[in-house]
Amino acid sequence: MLTIALPKGRIAKDTLKIFEKIFKKPFVFDDRKLILYTDNFKFLLVRSQDVPAYVLHQAADVGVVGLDVLEEQGSNLTRLLDLGVGKCKICVGVPKNKKLDFSLPEIKIATKMENITRNYFSSKAISVNIIKLYGSIELAPLVGLADAIVDLVETGSTMEQNGLEIAEIISHSSAYLVCNKNSFIIKKEEILTLYASIKEAVY
Ligand code: PRP
Repeated sequence: MLTIALPKGRIAKDTLKIFEKIFKKPFVFDDRKLILYTDNFKFLLVRSQDVPAYVLHQAADVGVVGLDVLEEQGSNLTRLLDLGVGKCKICVGVPKNKKLDFSLPEIKIATKMENITRNYFSSKAISVNIIKLYGSIELAPLVGLADAIVDLVETGSTMEQNGLEIAEIISHSSAYLVCNKNSFIIKKEEILTLYASIKEAVY
């Protein structure tokens, strides 16, 4: 049996659709249940940022997780396949009509992604003051908590509805199938069979 950690929300829905396509039957979590048993799989529903921990510590053999989370956490997991779902961009967002001079000292950037933000600005030799938040990032510049944000943009409506615009695109992200190195040795055949069916379903 393979245990698969899925991140709650949009990526989980799109990923379960891929499994439904492969196995030609519905894959649905009951109400508030966090484990779904089906065929030879056990699916775990976890917070997106927690998927690498479940896979790394072998509570799950494989996982589906956004590239943004993998990059931010620098997890030592094997990236098997880009699933092509959960596509979004990691962007620097600024208030519209407000030209921000990033060369000024002490520019404040609010973000969930401290490492990606630090690496990006330091690669441009810009020193920024990072304010770590856990959600509703777009609010920060509106109330003077930060000058700009680094956040995920999918449709762009959250930025738009809060008077922000993209100043720069740092990178692109989508959901990846990942596994830990031990499971890949012990359950190689099962994992490669799953990999092949998913690849056939998504490409
Ligand atoms: C994410 C992201 C943006 C929003 C972008 O937040 O942090 O706020 O989605 O999507 P859009 O471009 O389609 O508007 P999420 O919904 O995960 O909630 P959060 O603010 O609690 O992180």
